[in-house]
Amino acid sequence: MKRINNISSQAGHIADLVPDQNQPRVYIETYGCQMNVADSEVVLSILVDNGYSVSHDPEQADVILINTCSIRDKAERKVFRRLDLFDRIKKNNPDILVGVIGCMAERLKEQLVNNYRVVDIVIGPDAYRKLPELIDEAGTGQKAVNVLLSREETYADISPVRMDKNHVTAFISIMRGCNNMCTYCVVPYTRGGERSRDPQSILREVDNLIKSGYKEVTLIGQNVDSYKWKENGGNIEVSFSGLLNKLAEAMPDMRIRFSTSHPKDLPDEVLSVMSRYNNICKHIHLPLQSGNNRILDLMNRGYTSEWYIGRINAIKRILPDCSISTDIITGFCSETEEEHKETLSLMEWVGYDFAYMFKYSERPGTKAARKLKDDVPEEVKSRRLTEIIELQNKLSHKAKIKDLNRVYEVLVEGVSKKSDNDLFGRTSQNKVVVFPARNYKPGDTLKVRINNCTSATLLGEPV
Ligand code: SAH
Ligand code: SF4
Ligand code: F3S
Repeated sequence: MKRINNISSQAGHIADLVPDQNQPRVYIETYGCQMNVADSEVVLSILVDNGYSVSHDPEQADVILINTCSIRDKAERKVFRRLDLFDRIKKNNPDILVGVIGCMAERLKEQLVNNYRVVDIVIGPDAYRKLPELIDEAGTGQKAVNVLLSREETYADISPVRMDKNHVTAFISIMRGCNNMCTYCVVPYTRGGERSRDPQSILREVDNLIKSGYKEVTLIGQNVDSYKWKENGGNIEVSFSGLLNKLAEAMPDMRIRFSTSHPKDLPDEVLSVMSRYNNICKHIHLPLQSGNNRILDLMNRGYTSEWYIGRINAIKRILPDCSISTDIITGFCSETEEEHKETLSLMEWVGYDFAYMFKYSERPGTKAARKLKDDVPEEVKSRRLTEIIELQNKLSHKAKIKDLNRVYEVLVEGVSKKSDNDLFGRTSQNKVVVFPARNYKPGDTLKVRINNCTSATLLGEPV
């Protein structure tokens, strides 16, 4: 099918792109972290600029793309199940091209090309500009591959096609890759070395979002505290706190969030900038992983539990109203029962508002896979995970009880899943609040008094 080059690169929103019979149609499915969501938006933008339209149904598409995640074995298995489905779709329509993009493309490369007949295209996270050419190449019957990682690519000049559901909140990628080499983690291999994006291009992107009516941005990177940009021939250096400061100052009506902070790098300066600006949300995601120093060292996390406690104390001192969330990995190589208990007691001490909790999943090629034994039995991992989840449920509930009778400013994101008469939104602390809709609509900000809670949300009344 012939491609017609579109004129606009002010890419807009996926909901406004209608499938066009005269243009090839692309269907995209996204797994993994926020970074992948932001990347899918870049991918769509590149394709729309090259004459593609969007399909919301894989069976109606000319090209199916699946943006993949390798972080745990389970994430990869989910993608293989989707590939089985696409294989069945292709049996009815052999002209459909299927592309695997993202972290699995990078990690499994030729394996995907050679062992999976359904896969026509394999493209790693730094090669998306080459997508139109590679799709053309695959169209001639050859399999097309590009998994080169880059030291510079940040897609800074590309206006993403937004895929959020609410037209209120958006992600902005401020850096790519990671230099930390935590021993369990596949990300440095799938996404390459760390590089930061030009602050001017970030400012421009936020500005475009404001013009399109967005009210909140989340700045994303694997380790935002190591954001660094050199300007003026290297004479001026912009750090993450500098970037936050610039954005908060320039866009007082835009709420700003960020993720992820690294405990070894989170400086007081970032906390001070957060305290100075109302529009920077009071929430920090600070992955702990383990509460035991021997395990933290084996993980190469670069901090001790004492250091982590120091960072939490700094947050509580400088930002008394700040919520704190975390990531935990349980059952890492050689973790003992005592060491697991240290994780539980540190979680209890911090009193997290929220946590993502995982069983350790060995990733081929990582340092842990090469040098350490994945020797905690599956049933022990499961039992420890259950204990961690049960503790976190208790901590989340406690945090919610503390919020009762308080009044919070809420940015409305949409209609509640449970009732059309209710809306939901988030507080600065990233807590979800459900309340009667009255005349409010998505994008509004209002004050809500919290009067009840469920296990996942706060309930309240507008005041
Ligand atoms: N860059 C971020 C998050 C990376 S991935 C950070 O450093 O915090 C998100 C989370 O997945 C990690 O924080 C970790 O808790 C978890 N994770 C990463 N690799 C894992 C593995 N091999 N097994 C289980 N969980 C893992
Ligand atoms: Fe992975 Fe560690 Fe980098 Fe996070 S900081 S992406 S856990 S290597
Ligand atoms: Fe997964 Fe890649 Fe993100 S491995 S968590 S999609 S960086």
